Amino acid sequence: MSKTIIISNRLPVKIQKEGGELTYKPSEGGLATGLGSIYKEGDNVWIGWPGLYLKKKEDKDRVEKDLNKENMHPVFLSEQLIKDYYEGFSNETLWPIFHYFMQYAHYDQRLYEAYVEANQRFCEQVARVANPGDTIWVHDYQLLLLPQMVRDKLPNVSIGFFQHIPFPSFEVFRMMPWRRALLNGMLGADLIGFHTYDDMRHFLSSVSRLAGISNSDGKVNNGKRVIEVDSFPMGIDYDKYASSAASPKTIDHEIRFRTSLGDTKLIISIDRLDYSKGLPKRLEAFESFLNRYQEYRGKVSLIMIVVPSRSNVIQYQELKEEVDLLVGRINGQFGRLNWTPVHYFYRSFQLESLSAFYRMAHVGMVTPMRDGMNLVCKEFIASKLDQKGVLILSEMAGASKELSEAILINPNDVNQMVEAIREALTMPEDEQIRHIQIMQGSIKKYNIHHWVKMFMGRLNAIKNNQDALATKNIDHEALTALKKDYDSNKKRLLFLDYDGTLTGFRTNPQQSKPDIELLGIIENLISDPNNRLIIISGRDKTTLESWLGHFDLDIIAEHGVWLKEKGQGWHTLENLDSKWKKQIKTVLEQYVDRTPGSFIEEKDYSLVWHYRKVETGLGELRTRELASHLKYLASNKNLLVLEGDMVVEIKSALVNKGKAAQKWLQKFDSDMIIAIGDDWTDEDTFKVMPDTAYTIKVGSTSSAAKFNVDSHKEVRALLKKLSEKPGTSSRKGKSRK
Ligand code: UDP
Ligand code: G6P
Repeated sequence: MSKTIIISNRLPVKIQKEGGELTYKPSEGGLATGLGSIYKEGDNVWIGWPGLYLKKKEDKDRVEKDLNKENMHPVFLSEQLIKDYYEGFSNETLWPIFHYFMQYAHYDQRLYEAYVEANQRFCEQVARVANPGDTIWVHDYQLLLLPQMVRDKLPNVSIGFFQHIPFPSFEVFRMMPWRRALLNGMLGADLIGFHTYDDMRHFLSSVSRLAGISNSDGKVNNGKRVIEVDSFPMGIDYDKYASSAASPKTIDHEIRFRTSLGDTKLIISIDRLDYSKGLPKRLEAFESFLNRYQEYRGKVSLIMIVVPSRSNVIQYQELKEEVDLLVGRINGQFGRLNWTPVHYFYRSFQLESLSAFYRMAHVGMVTPMRDGMNLVCKEFIASKLDQKGVLILSEMAGASKELSEAILINPNDVNQMVEAIREALTMPEDEQIRHIQIMQGSIKKYNIHHWVKMFMGRLNAIKNNQDALATKNIDHEALTALKKDYDSNKKRLLFLDYDGTLTGFRTNPQQSKPDIELLGIIENLISDPNNRLIIISGRDKTTLESWLGHFDLDIIAEHGVWLKEKGQGWHTLENLDSKWKKQIKTVLEQYVDRTPGSFIEEKDYSLVWHYRKVETGLGELRTRELASHLKYLASNKNLLVLEGDMVVEIKSALVNKGKAAQKWLQKFDSDMIIAIGDDWTDEDTFKVMPDTAYTIKVGSTSSAAKFNVDSHKEVRALLKKLSEKPGTSSRKGKSRK
């Protein structure tokens, strides 16, 4: 039976050595707590690092055995790798960059190499555990290279990747020397998920600017596969937190805590000790609050739970000192024998204790400088069984996009935080209940089960789509059949599109002149008297004539406007009108003036606005504007406005490649037809072909064609193969996906 393999740097349990004994404890952090509660529900296994360096083989064996029983497979890392991959590249390079703390980032090739090595270790473990048909789900920034590594090893598996931390803007991401390799690693997945739309947008912008791959509607076509990118805001196990809040053990804890604290109002804050969490600013805000609103002295305390994290990394050690000092300063300045302003705990707590804190706190204060999602704020809301309480939430946390009923603050604005505390403490109960009710409704619905369902459902759909396309892929078997058919037929029509089909795309369209290899392929095809070759292109006739006019072939230019049979002159398909061009050209010129890098291509019966060289993003923006501008002008002139690959083309609605190709089908007798093309204009050709024709789409997006190939390189290989004399070939075709 197929299973899902979850892979993250950290397993949901971590090993600790206490008095020479190995013990297991739940891991902290949103990834482990979020996924930890669902992974046992299905037939899942989890691969990850158990959180400690183990030297002795017998320790490793024991841990392996214990964890295997729980469907976990540990990846053991050497001391050096933990230092360089985990503390180093993951937490001294990626973490600060992705959280916009560029000043903390180290760029060290040695650390990157350790990162590559560690990702390989995880990949080896995946290869040991995975069976055909399994689904692979890779998590977080420590394993950005893993999706492509797994793809190389297991090309047919379905791979999802989810990033639990923010994805920074392109301007920040581009600073890293290894940016391309990291993106390529992620693009090994079939589905890439982020918590928020902003993260997804930033990622797509980096892909288009750094890898030169554009996207539409979150779909990235890397030439081999379509990779889907979307936002899937992670939820919590709502019922677990709600029922824990109601459990007798929790209530017991609450009674005990209350006895020690008296009737002071409480503000709760729970985080790992991390500079992304905004701890010093939060303390500063509480200190200012006590200065500004002195009447609250003795009446309000901040319970600050800080979970130790990454304590070997220098910035975390410095932060610890800063927080210790600040807490000491506030307690020293304001504390009384019967009142402690800040109750500071530098350790982790069990669920029931956390639930008791969530229950008894009047205010939840979650003020990170940056946070991918933040689950603590959702847990606070879910634990409020009486719906009384107020959440103060940083707008920099992913969760703020969902929890707009909270008091949203900018964590750098201490003054705003002070006022937020005051507002929270004075908010009328009915207002508290109204806000919490709305937030509970949303957190309950978009819970962790919903999150997994959405992500996995999407991944399965992508896989099914790929499988449907893969059956159309021209593999060795299909190629052999095609060749056999080709060899046994004597009257062949070959319709070949030019750009993207016989050549790759260039920034300057004039650079796509046929190269020696292509000229040889065409020469071979037309030297066979059984072939009639028709180049069917959107290009203007002058260019096509100058590149291919010396060959004995037919040409269809400007998407079917101009037709030319071999040895004859050009004529148009219909009685076409080009008077409309003057007015439309004036409009296009305005867009050229406003958009550096764009230019107009003028053909006899169409106009094209090119934006391949325009700054990424600006071209797309102008295209939308231009398309809507032209819509009105075009409709009463019987024109079509078509958006292509970095172009907007305006042409007569009466013409298309299909109509032109039909002329050949009607005029020339044939016993075999092949049509190959790569974009939407070729769909018109495919649609008019008889059922017996071999229609081949270049690329993997959906098409009316029967077959598809990956790129123009494969088209060339296929045409070479067809031209070979029967029985001379030994080369193998592409294997089935
Ligand atoms: N947490 C925990 N024990 C503690 C304190 C916190 O297990 O003593 C959990 C907390 O309940 C939450 C997670 O750690 O589920 C923190 O996740 P969050 O997304 O808020 O932040 P992250 O640590 O992932 O940056
Ligand atoms: C965040 C990250 C997780 C990580 C967790 C705890 O939630 O997104 O990937 O596991 O912090 O950090 P640690 O370094 O202790 O694993």
